[in-house]
Amino acid sequence: MLKFGLSFWRYFLDGTPVYLARHYWWAYLWRPAIWFFDHQPIINIILFGQYNRLLKKTMSCLVERPAGRFLQLTCVYGKLTPSLVHHLGDEPLFLLDVSSAQLKASRSKLAAKRYGLLPMRMNAEYLGLRDNGFATVLIFFLMHEMPTEARRHVLSETIRVLQPGGSLVVTEYGMEPSTHWLYRCWPVRKLLTRYEPFLQEFWREDIVAMLQAEALALGKRVELTENHQIFDGFYRVMVFKLNCD
Ligand SMILES: C[S@@+](CC[C@H](N)C(=O)[O-])C[C@H]1O[C@@H](n2cnc3c(N)ncnc32)[C@H](O)[C@@H]1O
Repeated sequence: MLKFGLSFWRYFLDGTPVYLARHYWWAYLWRPAIWFFDHQPIINIILFGQYNRLLKKTMSCLVERPAGRFLQLTCVYGKLTPSLVHHLGDEPLFLLDVSSAQLKASRSKLAAKRYGLLPMRMNAEYLGLRDNGFATVLIFFLMHEMPTEARRHVLSETIRVLQPGGSLVVTEYGMEPSTHWLYRCWPVRKLLTRYEPFLQEFWREDIVAMLQAEALALGKRVELTENHQIFDGFYRVMVFKLNCD
């Protein structure tokens, strides 16, 4: 009985990465949770009241994007996906996630505009997509939810599918915010790192250097062109441009 209890998460191992089923089944894979979390006030609380600022800054970084296909790398709660579909107008939004329940939930938020969405069930670590196929890729709060190796794979695959001259926008937690009042508030930090088990290592990782190393290995070059600090650096929105030598 105890053994069943401890390995309950395995029930969600339906083609999903182990880290996701094990640590986040209760947040992203369990249908009642998807219903619960996908409410604007809830997601705003999780982001300490910063959701609208993060959304606004992310959208503003996408205004001057290169012409070509747009990929959102994984589903998110809240109004980001509907905002993107609206922003793209007649162009489709390619949306990728490893969870079919998440893809279905994203589609259901779009009502009449759902034909503007092209959902794909795929593991972001191993994209079944051709090289240089996308002009813009957006990654919204995914990186901190993965172990380092998975993060490295996702960044490498992102660079591979991004075309020369393409743009990558990453919205995420900032670097370790040691002086931020929220970080210094021990119970908050404890709670965050309890439910976000990879956040501590993400805080200490140089994601720009990691991305540049992965790009170099593929004969490409990325440059950080914008780095917006939100909520005194607790969060950030980064824009990278892809160049080829
Ligand atoms: C983008 S992240 C977190 C987003 C953020 N907490 C929010 O909702 O605003 C959550 C999504 O990433 C997906 N995901 C996690 N690892 C993945 C992977 N390796 N490949 C594809 N999707 C993945 C999960 O299924 C989930 O839908």
